[in-house]
Amino acid sequence: MKILAIESSCDETAASVVENGRNILSSVVNTQIAEHTLYGGVVPEIASRRHLENIVSVVDGALEEASLTFDEIDAIAVTTAPGLIGALLVGVNYAKGLALASGKPLIPVHHIRGHIAANYLAHKDLEPPFICLVISGGHTHIIEVLDYTKFNIIGKTMDDAAGEAFDKAGRAMGFPYPAGAKIDKAAKEGERGTYKIPHPKLEGKYDFSFSGIKTAVVNIVHNAEQKGEKVIIPNLACDFQSAVSEILADKFVSAAKEYGYKKAVICGGVSANSGVRNLLEERFKKEGIEFFVPPLSLCGDNAAMIGSQGYYEALQGHFANMELNASATMNIEKEF
Ligand code: KG4
Ligand code: ZN
Repeated sequence: MKILAIESSCDETAASVVENGRNILSSVVNTQIAEHTLYGGVVPEIASRRHLENIVSVVDGALEEASLTFDEIDAIAVTTAPGLIGALLVGVNYAKGLALASGKPLIPVHHIRGHIAANYLAHKDLEPPFICLVISGGHTHIIEVLDYTKFNIIGKTMDDAAGEAFDKAGRAMGFPYPAGAKIDKAAKEGERGTYKIPHPKLEGKYDFSFSGIKTAVVNIVHNAEQKGEKVIIPNLACDFQSAVSEILADKFVSAAKEYGYKKAVICGGVSANSGVRNLLEERFKKEGIEFFVPPLSLCGDNAAMIGSQGYYEALQGHFANMELNASATMNIEKEF
């Protein structure tokens, strides 16, 4: 089954053709990051406008790159939730138009289910059940992936998402949005142990909180400014990244052990972080748990992951009609 997938939930207009959930025939990602950087974050109205301008050429580009005509496509998958509502609506309405005009099936896909599915594209033998840590700009969840379309959340952030913490702490360090990859790079040039970053204490065993450590970074920078002292940015980046990595690893590894999983998976933009990847790899190796990470090209937003998840939704008969709407929020456990 060849699925044409469309993703427009945030600041990337993306389209892809994926075969049988596992093979990427094409993947086009048009990112708006440079424009949003000017404003220090994603401006929803600008994002929607750029999606509208780009969607036709991005979808055509995905078909061209796959050397396929639209007639050769079997179904259309689209991200319907969660995300920026105006941005999502562009993809959803374009997909609905294609489905209505062609009579091809329309498959709604949850964005975070898509991030998890990015791993199916990279690891051809990976099958549920497994435990997954979702770390993106908007989400931080520990999830049991019971089956391709069955999920159980066992922990989540109480405030900022991991990516949000990177972006906000990075802003205090003087990095432009999005700061995650810039902190990662700076941390490689720094050394640990200069700055104390507190680890939060939480009631929920597998819940997270990142707003405290973000505030700690802001305070370190402000205190130094007031005293006329210089902050060693690579060292601060290194201490911050190490703290986030340890918090994520402590909870994720103990959840994997307590729930008895032999396979652990990460996904989302922050799964590109070298500190997080290395620490988790080391800890899971010690525990004898197999650890899966997506390649860097599939960590951030893309449509190939939507095409992969779309295939497994289709196998379950999860199709939509012309009443399909976008939604800014939606629990990953909910069936469409
Ligand atoms: O998954 P994603 O592309 O979009 C959402 O669905 O949110 O994640 C974007 C987030 C941003 O916060 C960005 O700073 C972060 O992923 N990110 C990173 C790295 N690369 C991207 N964070 C830490 N280290 C990185 N190397
Ligand atoms: Zn995403």
